[in-house]
Amino acid sequence: MFNKPISYKAPQFTESVIREMTRLAIQHGAINLSQGFPDFPAPEILKKAAADAIFADVNQYAITWGAKNFREAIAEKTKHFLGIAVDPEREITVCCGSTEGMLDVLLAVINPGDEVIVFEPFYENYGPDTIISGATPRYVQLRALDWSFDEAELAAAFNNNTKAIIINTPNNPTGKVFSRQELEAIARLCMKWDVLAVTDEIYEHILYDGAEHISPITLEGMRERTIVVNGMSKTYSVTGWRVGYILAPVGINGAIRKMHDFMTVGAPAPLQEAGTVALRLPDSYYSELAAHYTERRDVLLAALDAAGLQPFVPGGAYYIMCNIRPLCEQQGLANDVEFTRFLVKDVGVAAVPGSSFFREPSAGKDLIRFTFCKKPETLAAAAGRLATLRQTIGAKQFRG
Ligand SMILES: Cc1ncc(COP(=O)(O)O)c(C=O)c1O
Repeated sequence: MFNKPISYKAPQFTESVIREMTRLAIQHGAINLSQGFPDFPAPEILKKAAADAIFADVNQYAITWGAKNFREAIAEKTKHFLGIAVDPEREITVCCGSTEGMLDVLLAVINPGDEVIVFEPFYENYGPDTIISGATPRYVQLRALDWSFDEAELAAAFNNNTKAIIINTPNNPTGKVFSRQELEAIARLCMKWDVLAVTDEIYEHILYDGAEHISPITLEGMRERTIVVNGMSKTYSVTGWRVGYILAPVGINGAIRKMHDFMTVGAPAPLQEAGTVALRLPDSYYSELAAHYTERRDVLLAALDAAGLQPFVPGGAYYIMCNIRPLCEQQGLANDVEFTRFLVKDVGVAAVPGSSFFREPSAGKDLIRFTFCKKPETLAAAAGRLATLRQTIGAKQFRG
């Protein structure tokens, strides 16, 4: 038997709660509105491009930091949407999803003692990312109802040890789209303290009610201190392809490419080829994407509202946070975990407990998150089940 201890890092974080909810959904035959992956087909044109690439024998390793034509497509799209010229030869690294991208970036820039600022609630990967990379996280609260932050609290989180701040806009789990004013406040602090902005912009095209995506890289003075992490998963509904990319200033990008190379060698070559087709789709693709998600959002918002789940209306991304406090109080349910277990088992809908987005579980005890990146019929079926919620909850008599 092997008796030496495993890495001290592994016990510091738990298995992903979101992926656990997916397993519970399968076990109980529930409709899975927990994990953010579409249950509808990927665009035909992309599936064909991927199949064509495989048949054309684009089947061996691509250049480790990304196939040249894919990097060129990324540079073109960045110029088109953000108005920023990035050098495909020196400022782009293609990786296995933005998940790898975020870790590559942190591994490339973090030294012992470095701090990284994270807004809370946060996308659950950022916690483990800081542990794996050896960064010390510092949390700044996004507060309901509008998920705004307190500028003084943010300013107090910066110090000489701060190496980076992670900004996810549009935001998972809150649906917040950071405003220009907010981003400028962050940018001023980044410049004052010589800090990198690492921005997760994976939901950049999923916006509602006229919300505008502003990438911090476009703000004055931020071009040289912003690292953009992005990918194909959400914009093109291909979460299983695992193709992401990083835009970073030349000096830092060299270090990022090394981390990436020795971690995964490269992203799937035929899917990068298909990515060149995806990233060159016309603007109408993106407006249709947003329009489709607006319809889905509205269907789920109405269902959640009717069920008494008090949804927060998202401005972007494809999640809805709900305040479950009134229902929990009424019914004697203790917290988000108890509520989501009841929901998945007795109502047949899977959601994510809010505590998985906070470092202190109690901070998320009144929140749960649903996703609506699902077929209209899936959402209609979920709405039907949610309509039975109050009745089921009443019949269970949690109050003993
Ligand atoms: C904010 C955020 N970043 C990154 C990811 C993962 O993206 P990828 O599939 O590119 O690794 C997700 C997935 O849910 C996400 O919500």
